[in-house]
Amino acid sequence: MDRIVVQGGARLAGEVAVSGSKNATLALMAAAVLADSETVLHNVPRLRDVDTMLEILRALGARADWHEYDEHAVRIDARSINRPEAPYDLVRKMRASFLVLGPLLARFGAARVSEPGGCAIGVRPVDQHLKGLAALGGKVRLDHGYVEVTTSGLRGAGVAFDLPTVNGTQNVMMAAVLASGDTVLENAAREPEVVELADALNKMGARVRGAGGDRIAIEGVASLRGIRHAVSGDRIEASTLLAAGLATRGDVRVTGVDTSVLESTLDKLREAGADLDVDATGARARTDGPLRGVNVVTAPFPGYPTDMQAQLMAVLTVAEGSSVLREGVFENRFMHVPELQRMGADIAVSGRTAHIRGVPGLMGAPVMATDLRASAGLIVAALAAEGETVVNRVYHIDRGYERIEEKLRSLGAAIQRED
Ligand code: UD1
Repeated sequence: MDRIVVQGGARLAGEVAVSGSKNATLALMAAAVLADSETVLHNVPRLRDVDTMLEILRALGARADWHEYDEHAVRIDARSINRPEAPYDLVRKMRASFLVLGPLLARFGAARVSEPGGCAIGVRPVDQHLKGLAALGGKVRLDHGYVEVTTSGLRGAGVAFDLPTVNGTQNVMMAAVLASGDTVLENAAREPEVVELADALNKMGARVRGAGGDRIAIEGVASLRGIRHAVSGDRIEASTLLAAGLATRGDVRVTGVDTSVLESTLDKLREAGADLDVDATGARARTDGPLRGVNVVTAPFPGYPTDMQAQLMAVLTVAEGSSVLREGVFENRFMHVPELQRMGADIAVSGRTAHIRGVPGLMGAPVMATDLRASAGLIVAALAAEGETVVNRVYHIDRGYERIEEKLRSLGAAIQRED
């Protein structure tokens, strides 16, 4: 199993281009199931989660592969789908597999997808996805660990989500675009990945209005065609690289991302002591002085993203003063805390709140990655720490960060991957 070895203490400086967004890509790949011709996605990150989604699409019977001439593109042709069933072995690797449920139901009138179950960051039910599909006329049945949905024809309906769910909004949106009549999604998630999906669906021939707000209106159409689409830059990767720079009192600029969607993370980095320089082509964060503690609550977009919680916590462990970090989205997302404590961080957790008292420095230590963003937090901490940190179980990081060690090395980090 690979591990990442970091010699901490080097000040990061330079410019780095971020990869395409993992979460946008996964939803767009599921949307390709809706089309009656080939879809080609460009600027796709080379990640394990993308490979898993390709495997799922192939298991359904679709043609789904990396492009032969562009290493950051995938080609998906859903015309050959003949088994609308996503098996347990693939869904258990990645919860986002559940995103094929809505498109399969809309296109084939039936779908069987393994129930994703619990995961490292909390219970994460799918009740809202199923409530939406049922409102559109899906008959939902749980069968030996699988969710089975059938329909004799989806019809538009009003769906009011109990809470804004990103993949739930996307799943129901993808079913509604091929339903007959009008659908209105209330309390919809407003994340940029929902907006990008809606834009892509509209290019495919759908009629979706209002994405980015909490009310999305969808007028069903009879069919959709495949498209070419370049995935936008990954806002979480961009923010992670800026946080890594800040933790080392460095000077890092990220490019290839829409900086307007970084606002909530940039605000917190500024409050923590970063001087920011932001324009349409990129964002630069630098600091020479001390870092300051800040208070943060994670929340659905446009709030501070839960996917950037662990990385910010790593920065705050070496800031002056105290910070309070409340996890407002998931109920169990502090697995990185014991690992940060082993590096000398002073953190006390009570329920969903972490109290962090800044220490003058962290010490390198062997640590264990427990999930994707926790691993990123540990790498940020390792870069700031004195001495060597070995991050074990880095397969988690390969789910969501393409060539992270190469990118950090290009900024001056002493970081290696070892077999
Ligand atoms: C997506 C992102 C993930 C991010 C999360 C929140 C992808 C592939 N993943 O996950 O990186 O951390 O958004 O920004 O895009 N919930 C329910 N019932 C449901 C669905 C969700 O109670 O049916 C709850 C969840 O347990 C959680 C909250 O809603 O507490 C938000 O989760 P959700 O937005 O659905 O996360 P995902 O879409 O799974």
